[in-house]
Amino acid sequence: METRFRDTGIDTIKSDLVVVPVHERKLEEPVIRTLDRHLKGRLRERIEKSQFTGGEGSTLLHATGGALPAVHVLLVGLGKDTDLDAHVWRKAAARARKEAATLGARDIALYFAPAREPAAAASAIVEGVLLAAYQFNRYRSNSKPVPELKSLSFFKPGLTRAAETEKAVREAVDVIPGVFLARDLVNEPPSVTTARFLGEQAEQNCRGRGLSVEVWGKKKIEAMKLAGLLAVNRGSHEEPRFITIHYKPPVRPRKRVFLIGKGITFDSGGLSLKPSKSMETMKLDMAGGAAIIGAMSRLPHLRPDVEVTSYIPATDNLPGGNAQKPGDVIRYLNGKTIEVLNTDAEGRLILADALALAARENPDCIINLATLTGACVVALGNEVAGLFSNHQPLADQILGAARECGEKMWQLPLVKEYREDIKSSVADMKNVAGPQGGAIIAALILQEFVDEIPWAHLDIAGPAFTEKETPICARGGTGFGVRTLLRFLSTP
Ligand code: BES
Ligand code: ZN
Ligand code: ZN
Repeated sequence: METRFRDTGIDTIKSDLVVVPVHERKLEEPVIRTLDRHLKGRLRERIEKSQFTGGEGSTLLHATGGALPAVHVLLVGLGKDTDLDAHVWRKAAARARKEAATLGARDIALYFAPAREPAAAASAIVEGVLLAAYQFNRYRSNSKPVPELKSLSFFKPGLTRAAETEKAVREAVDVIPGVFLARDLVNEPPSVTTARFLGEQAEQNCRGRGLSVEVWGKKKIEAMKLAGLLAVNRGSHEEPRFITIHYKPPVRPRKRVFLIGKGITFDSGGLSLKPSKSMETMKLDMAGGAAIIGAMSRLPHLRPDVEVTSYIPATDNLPGGNAQKPGDVIRYLNGKTIEVLNTDAEGRLILADALALAARENPDCIINLATLTGACVVALGNEVAGLFSNHQPLADQILGAARECGEKMWQLPLVKEYREDIKSSVADMKNVAGPQGGAIIAALILQEFVDEIPWAHLDIAGPAFTEKETPICARGGTGFGVRTLLRFLSTP
């Protein structure tokens, strides 16, 4: 898709679909009057009949019938002026793209007159237009692909090219394939996305300047004493993998970051078996790893001046004959031990290996993404990730990046007092506590493995997967985290 900036008015722009964003109850704007004049009052009539007021999420489509160079005009409601943030632009643009798909429009021209932050608005619009077109149709016999969009034009009389806006648009275009890759990896059936497959996907997709991938098989994992990954893998016929993706910037790095993603390719719970209903979506349990592969795959395009090393421990969690048992104890490479009382709390067990390995390298920070707890979904719902951190400046940077990307995150506390609850009778700690505060308990266990290194843990169990279609995402994997991570890495 080509993006253009054009110094043109609504009466002269030629396009299959002209999109005019409208604020709630701001239907007297000059652009709408001009439109209406050319359409001989018909638009006003339609507005009155349909009771379109410009509320967020509402749209009004009008065919020009040759009265204008544009074929269709779409009014898109933005809601109240005061509520307008980048995410409103993102969703409005996504709705426009869906309309374009229905109409078979090959290009969109959007009247671009944001009151503030044009760069952020333009990049959100590009993201919305691209994200809305995602589909996962590999296993459908009757799918209809979304027609490709040839161009997206931003237009307004007097619109000038601004370097900052153009850069933001370019970055948005560069980021989105990473989101799609993460979505694809989650959406693939779990017997396709095995640990081996995930390793191959990392190798295939993380290529280009500065990137290298190393995938460890079972022997190497044993030699490296990644005891948590081996323990979880015992119930499976599939071999585990430990995936490392490394990015070296073209210039001297400003900092060294480690990213760690949970790569449970299917979570049955192990011997602490989940009920069938809870298992239905458990192919999502590698979404943290998928987000990291997606993000890393775009670094050669974005080229941030940060050195990034990613670790993705990968296995499924199955209850085979050799599976780990409640009561078993794992001894980690940093000497710490965990008593496994519930084999369904497996994410923390495999992340511990990776966190301990990363901590050894003494990086500037470690960020992990994991679909870690149902408790986090209970606390924050399906749209919001829980963020835990031992370092407030790092937490603030991530929250800031997330806000700009429209990925919702909310910080939750690492409550020291709850450490009492993970005391074990035989080991340094146990992997579960009582029924309360489960997201915090899981985070406290992870914290045991990062020493004092600035660290943030994102529990993405809720937003990694959507059971209902949203403007920017089809049902299934969302690619949550890819955009925030890339924004975080690109922000000085
Ligand atoms: N993968 C699940 C967490 C999860 C739940 C992700 C729902 C997405 C949606 C995780 O491994 C798990 O099973 N956690 C248990 C922990 C419990 C046994 C302490 C949970 O949340 O129930
Ligand atoms: Zn589990
Ligand atoms: Zn899990």
